[in-house]
Amino acid sequence: MRKTDFLVIGSGIAGLTYALKVANRFPEKKVLVMTKATADETNTKYAQGGIAVVNDMENDSFEKHIEDTLIAGDGLCNEKVVEIVVKEGPDRVQEIIDWGAQFDKEADGDYKRGKEGGHSEFRILHHKDVTGKEMERALIDAVNSQTNIEFIKHCFVVDIITQHHLGYLVNKATPDVECYGVYVLNQETNKIEKILAGITLLATGGNGQVYRTTTNPSIATGDGVAMVYRAKGRVENMEFIQFHPTALYEPGVKGQAFLITEAVRGDGGILRNKNGEAFMERYDERKDLAPRDIVARAIDSEMKRTGTEHVWLDCRHFDKEKFTEHFPNIYEKCLSIGIDITKHMIPVSPAAHYSCGGIKTDEWGRSSIKNLYACGECASTGLHGANRLASNSLLEAMVFAHRCYMDSITRFTDATDTFRSASEPLKGTHDDIPDWNAAGTTEPREMILITQSLKELQQVMSDYVGIVRNNVRLQRAMRRLDLLWEETEDLYESSTLSPQLLELRNMITVGYLIVKGAGFRKESRGLHYNTDYPSKSNLVQNIVL
Ligand code: FAD
Ligand code: SIN
Repeated sequence: MRKTDFLVIGSGIAGLTYALKVANRFPEKKVLVMTKATADETNTKYAQGGIAVVNDMENDSFEKHIEDTLIAGDGLCNEKVVEIVVKEGPDRVQEIIDWGAQFDKEADGDYKRGKEGGHSEFRILHHKDVTGKEMERALIDAVNSQTNIEFIKHCFVVDIITQHHLGYLVNKATPDVECYGVYVLNQETNKIEKILAGITLLATGGNGQVYRTTTNPSIATGDGVAMVYRAKGRVENMEFIQFHPTALYEPGVKGQAFLITEAVRGDGGILRNKNGEAFMERYDERKDLAPRDIVARAIDSEMKRTGTEHVWLDCRHFDKEKFTEHFPNIYEKCLSIGIDITKHMIPVSPAAHYSCGGIKTDEWGRSSIKNLYACGECASTGLHGANRLASNSLLEAMVFAHRCYMDSITRFTDATDTFRSASEPLKGTHDDIPDWNAAGTTEPREMILITQSLKELQQVMSDYVGIVRNNVRLQRAMRRLDLLWEETEDLYESSTLSPQLLELRNMITVGYLIVKGAGFRKESRGLHYNTDYPSKSNLVQNIVL
């Protein structure tokens, strides 16, 4: 058993920003950061386009960024949260610059600003087309120079410890569910360990792997959301899965799809269908730079209408030097598979990209479970509503990491609070938190039971719960998920745990929550499009599960 003051689960932009802040503010406290993979294997590392922020007050304004975010969110954003994120954003971006992240500049020293779908102004700061890699690098460097942060890799967090583990009945009606720490699978020892913490922050990222085609790396399996749901915490708006319109179409290539950033369209890239037609003008007056939900649906419709598996992104008219200066990574990737963007169009199709819903939090990042914060893509803060505005997620992660930190500070100064330092013994029954009970479990006989179920899950979600949905498809999906759930629970009860089994179990839970949310939403709004209810309902509501 270990004890720590602050436990941070996840080493992307959200987790590391929070860890740095608490470690700096409380040099005498212990901060433990855990990740199930290597330090930088995160969605953050793959972010391309950049971070949306108002830092040119002459041409841009907070009001415009707020307005763009609200329009994309299609009536479901929390306006107060939108204002918070947009207005606090510039200070947070300055902090990461101070930690060493570099954004591209013009010759006169001013920042280069890109544009993406749904933005009325050029406001996206970027580091070529590898912005996330640069931000993650800066954060890891800063964390490494902080002596009170311990960073543990290859540790898979299995479950949040609550009163349930002390033998109490905990359900959705239990008023004060409390987080005491977590059980983790140490992938080096293959043992489940117990970690007790004063404050726990979940920053476990997205869930794109629930779908067959995704821009997300293999870590994006929705673990945090599934853990909170199992612990009887609140999760909301899971039906709003954002499909990025332009993932590189590479037949036969399995796993993470390579992204062609929306910034390419921001710089003038044009979508064309099989016949070479620039079709977006038939769908929206903003054409190729309409919000993502509209562009992804338009591509889906063109692919179905013309019977193709992709459309084209035309960049042949670009100045090669300008293209390679802004998008060197994309240029090289395309060239490596025989596509010279100056001569050939790029085949692209939509791919699951971002989860707008997640663990429900308030405006300080507090989840419905005491002592448990959630931040970054795993959280639902109210910023994105029914559809996230491009490049708003890195910003949200930083703003909310800061707000979680600010709220954590008050925990030390409020005498009535029950915050426990790691140096204090746990009081009362908390010392009775049991060790993990693995009695009666054995190695699973065949891994194929897990790999095949994962394929089935991804197939079901892609075929029935994709960009366009209807009631019959959702009912079918739910029936198939029920069966997968039953089979996987049997395996879970009888097997020694492995990351693959734990991820499958979490992904089935996340799939269930997406389908459940989609079933409850009797309308089409933002990213959720159901042909049985093609219009928006007058009832504007979050679906809380
Ligand atoms: P992540 O960066 O995904 O980190 C999650 C962490 O949690 C990882 O360390 C993981 O190992 C850990 N973890 C998960 N489960 C467990 C577990 N059970 N136990 C232990 N550790 C666990 N957004 C923008 O704003 N601008 C962009 O330009 C942009 N481009 C993108 C391009 C791509 C290809 C992708 C995939 C996303 C992009 N996004 C972009 C979205 C953005 O990158 C993510 O939303 C954001 O980085 C998420 O950060 P995070 O810290 O919440 O999670
Ligand atoms: C992109 O670069 O197109 C992705 C931006 C985002 O997801 O916010």
